[in-house]
Amino acid sequence: MPTPLISPSILSADFARLGEEVRAIDAAGADWIHIDVMDGHFVPNLTFGPAVTAAIRPWTTRPFDVHLMVSPVDLWIEPFAKAGADIITVHPEAGAHTHRTVQAIRAAGAKPGISLNPATPAKMLDYLLEEIDLVLVMSVNPGFGGQSFITSQLKKIEAIRRMIDKSGRDIRLEVDGGVSPITARQCVEAGADVLVAGSAAFAGGPERYAANIAALRGTVGA
Ligand code: DX5
Ligand code: ZN
Repeated sequence: MPTPLISPSILSADFARLGEEVRAIDAAGADWIHIDVMDGHFVPNLTFGPAVTAAIRPWTTRPFDVHLMVSPVDLWIEPFAKAGADIITVHPEAGAHTHRTVQAIRAAGAKPGISLNPATPAKMLDYLLEEIDLVLVMSVNPGFGGQSFITSQLKKIEAIRRMIDKSGRDIRLEVDGGVSPITARQCVEAGADVLVAGSAAFAGGPERYAANIAALRGTVGA
């Protein structure tokens, strides 16, 4: 089985010690840092803005994988790129002109990603795949950490893997929500190469982070 990249979601970190948490999860082997941005409108929760993102930027050199769950989304692209986002992922439902949004992310100097909600079909990617560097499959409905993995999304991951391979483009296939060592394996078998994990990465506190990440990656017995 190929080894996936792990992108721990700081949604499950200790917010009172966010910089130290980012440093600790980096030291524990995180490949990317996943930043879940929620606006209380597109999703029923509120989290971080560009100021918090900029504040934690000096605490790691790992890529910032920014997942925007905000609507309207376009006005936030430039501020997050300036705050240090390397990848900016948006939901097609968050704006009327997704193709233009993707171009704006590229123009701001970040890599564009598209995130599909559990009910959003893979077909949504047909005319976007040429323009993007990442597809993020939501395996829970966005808004909260700690939810259960929706297994119907495995078929979608398989379908998107075929679409990416056919395109010949270098596009990452990331899965987000309910990823545990068990579902991680299923996602990788279905074709995912990046896994987001909130609760499974941060469970048990800093002394557990390295073991948690190794278990998600499948480099120790799951
Ligand atoms: C949900 C977020 C996820 C979430 C994952 O809206 O996009 O990134 O933090 O958390 P877990 O891994 O706990 O399901
Ligand atoms: Zn996310």
